[in-house]
Amino acid sequence: MKKIPVIIDCDPGIDDVMALLLAFSRDDLDVKLITTEPGNQTQDKTIYNAIAFTSYMKQNIEIARGLNDPFFRELEVADKVHGESGLGEVILPEPTLLESDRTAINALKEVLTESEEPIVIIATGPLTNIGALLLAHPEVKEKISYISYMGGAAVAGNMSPFAEFNVYVDPHAADIVFRSGVPIVMSGLDVTHKAYVNMAELEKIESMNTDLSEKIGSMLRFYINTAKNNDFQDTDFENGIRLHDLCAVSYVVTPDLFEGEDCFVAVETEGRHTAGATVVDYAYRSGKPHNVKVLHSVDREAFVNQFMEAIEKMSNYIGQ
Ligand code: RIB
Ligand code: CA
Repeated sequence: MKKIPVIIDCDPGIDDVMALLLAFSRDDLDVKLITTEPGNQTQDKTIYNAIAFTSYMKQNIEIARGLNDPFFRELEVADKVHGESGLGEVILPEPTLLESDRTAINALKEVLTESEEPIVIIATGPLTNIGALLLAHPEVKEKISYISYMGGAAVAGNMSPFAEFNVYVDPHAADIVFRSGVPIVMSGLDVTHKAYVNMAELEKIESMNTDLSEKIGSMLRFYINTAKNNDFQDTDFENGIRLHDLCAVSYVVTPDLFEGEDCFVAVETEGRHTAGATVVDYAYRSGKPHNVKVLHSVDREAFVNQFMEAIEKMSNYIGQ
């Protein structure tokens, strides 16, 4: 089977972990590198979580530390949603993998440069690392197939009326990436709000009775509770828990589960009310070339079944 080479840039983060789980479960993906962003938690915590979860999943993948802070803005973490550790109340086993001795930027540049074929970047956090990479090493653009990005929103944000968290944290980096010419497939809130696990499906996951399913269940319940306690829009209480980041991986392996539209999208970096907004030109009024495929629909049941299969497969693989 031809494997799709990918790099995952993430800020674990409860839904980032779900995205890593799906990626590790897929025989049609070759995860070349994981890099971590400050976002859901500080860089120290997101890289620890990435190393701990990748170790727990018995994967042998390089994990490289990204930058500590957004380009210009003060880092705002999402501890109210993902908890003090970034993974709710779950305690993962002591990591067996070590942090790469390369920085994320160097590892990204070298892996992309040395690859014989273009690589898909799956980005599920703020775009600080990817923005810095494209500024420092624009020559790597030709080695990036496209960026499958969880971030942004055409209609409404979750950090402000207009801004989704990942873009809100570092709008300047996102602006660099969206203007880079690298093709982007954007799993914004428009589609991720439809990509939820409902309560019956959560109970089905918990009934798998494996160590992994128990940890997944605990993280998802934490996600619900923090959303309820903080009136976050991250969880639609009537329906279930939105697995935002999972969309960015699912699209790469099963694009037909999703529907979207090619548009011009700009990132607002300065607006008093709109900083961090992804301005999606659905009306084609800008006359500017389409730089983003904006996803707006998902076959939810197939998406959730894919996730459940990943939990079962990886539970067997790690023997827990
Ligand atoms: O807005 C949702 C995004 O913000 C997800 O990537 C979640 O992990 C948080 O980073
Ligand atoms: Ca994330």
